[in-house]
Amino acid sequence: MRRVRKAIIPVAGMGTRFLPATKVLAKEMLPIIDKPTIQYIVEEAVNSGIEEILFITSPYKKNIEDHFDRSFELEKRLEKSNKLEQLEMVKDISNLASFYYLRQGEPLGTGHAVKLAKNFVGDEPFAILYGDDVVVSEVPCLKQLMQVYEKYDCNVLCAEELEDYLIPQKGIIEYEDIKSGKVKGLVEKPKLEEAPSKHGTLGRYILKPEIFAEIEKISMKNGEYLLTDALLTLMKKQDFYACKLNGKYYDVGNQIGYIKANVEFALSREDLASAMREYLSKLEI
Ligand code: UTP
Repeated sequence: MRRVRKAIIPVAGMGTRFLPATKVLAKEMLPIIDKPTIQYIVEEAVNSGIEEILFITSPYKKNIEDHFDRSFELEKRLEKSNKLEQLEMVKDISNLASFYYLRQGEPLGTGHAVKLAKNFVGDEPFAILYGDDVVVSEVPCLKQLMQVYEKYDCNVLCAEELEDYLIPQKGIIEYEDIKSGKVKGLVEKPKLEEAPSKHGTLGRYILKPEIFAEIEKISMKNGEYLLTDALLTLMKKQDFYACKLNGKYYDVGNQIGYIKANVEFALSREDLASAMREYLSKLEI
C-alpha cells in the first residue's frame, strides 16, 4: 500500500460569504486570533505526515503564496532588533513543507479545482483539505483518516455527527455498515426524517488517483463542477470508508463558525484565557 505524501488545498473559491473582507484578502488568510486559518490547515497536514502541498489558487489569493514563502526583509529586521522568537516563528512557516501553486482560472467548483492537480498527484493516493474547515483534535484530523486508509486501503471521508437542524443543510453519509464505517452513498441536504444517518462530511478526504477519471465525467450544476459528484461515481467502483472525527470542527467559512473559533481558541490559550473569561463573564447577554 502506498503512503499518502501529497495534499491538495483548494483555495480558489470566491469566499462570497465573507465579503467585503474577501474583496482583496483571501478568506483563508483571515486569522483565528493571530494565525491565518490556512496555516492551521497546513500544520494539520504536515503533522499528519504530508510532505508536498499543492494549493489550487487564484489571482486574488497571492498573499497565501507570500505567507508560505521566505520574507527576507522582515527576517532581517527581526534579527536586527533581536526578536529571535518571532524570527524563528516566521522562518518556520516557509519550512513546513514543499509548497506548489496552480491557478484555477475561474472558480468552477471543487471538482474543477481538484482536476487541476492530476499531474501533481500522478498515480499515488492523496489528501484533500478544504481551506475553510479547521479541526482541533489530539490526533490531527488527516492522520485519523490515514489510519482508516491504512486499515482498509480505501478512499476515506471524514464524518462528523450533526445536530438535527444542520442535517437538511449538509451532505449526509449513507452507510453500508455503520459499525465499520463502510460507505454506500451520500445524500445532499435530505429532510431530517429521510436522512440516512446523522453524519455529515467535512473538508478532508483521502482519495485514490482513479478519482480523476470520474471528475472528467461529471457535468456542471449551477455553474460548478462538484467533487461530490465524482465521489458518488467512484463509490460504485471502489471502497469508501468514513472516519468518525475525534475532535472539534469549526466551519470558519461562515461568520458564526469563524467567531466561535476565535472565542474558543482564545479560551484555550494560556496567554489569553483569563482575560477572555473575565470579558465574557461581564457581557450582558
Ligand atoms: P466553498 O464553497 O466552501 O468556498 O469551497 P467558497 O466558494 O470560497 O465560499 P463561498 O460560498 O463563496 O463563501 C470549499 C473550498 O474549495 C475551494 C474554496 O476556496 C474552499 O477552500 N474552492 C471552491 C476552489 O478552490 N475552487 C472553486 O471553484 C470552489
